[in-house]
Amino acid sequence: MSALQFDLDAVLDTLADKGWVVIPHALPAELVQQLRDTCLQVWDAGRFHEAATGRAGGQARRAEIRSDSVLWLDQVAAEPAVLAYNAAMDDIMHAVNRGLYLGLAELESHFAVYPAGAFYKKHLDRFRDDDARTLTTVFYLNEGWPQDAGGEIRLYLDLDCQSHIDVTPEAGTLVLFLSDRFWHEVLPARQQRLSVTGWYRRRSERLL
Ligand code: OGA
Ligand code: MN
Repeated sequence: MSALQFDLDAVLDTLADKGWVVIPHALPAELVQQLRDTCLQVWDAGRFHEAATGRAGGQARRAEIRSDSVLWLDQVAAEPAVLAYNAAMDDIMHAVNRGLYLGLAELESHFAVYPAGAFYKKHLDRFRDDDARTLTTVFYLNEGWPQDAGGEIRLYLDLDCQSHIDVTPEAGTLVLFLSDRFWHEVLPARQQRLSVTGWYRRRSERLL
């Protein structure tokens, strides 16, 4: 039984039409709570590291660009909440492949913690030298996020960044967008902000 609490066909239609979609209450509240607990346990255990920018090899810590900390889900893959999350995200991947022919092969995800004051400046998720990242997924774990706490994702709707939407990082909200088409940033959060961010990848055909 799929944990998805929304109409996949409607989401696929929106993705095909706009290239992005925001889905509130995407997964059951108990699962969101479990994921949040797992995230905080591994955070308290000191297992996160400060996020870097760029692809493996060319990675560098760039605190002026982003100031969150991350832990890849493959480090905690046996946690029940992570298994359930990955199963739900698999259902989305298969539906997207059937409906949109994106040829997605796998999802790589990490927990992200933005301490109070943290941000991620405007960026695109696809690396210059690796076009495998195809569809970005961001899932929020913040129950009752206050309206004045900042921390929204600002998603620019055109490549010239003339228009945008701001999405509150409220628990249960899932945002999907094409990784190479949408500039976005995380506005400074005034309190700790938790999320799971991921990228569906297709097999990379790297230019030599
Ligand atoms: C990222 C990112 C958005 C968010 O990690 O690349 O853009 O809302 N995250 O956390
Ligand atoms: Mn991003």
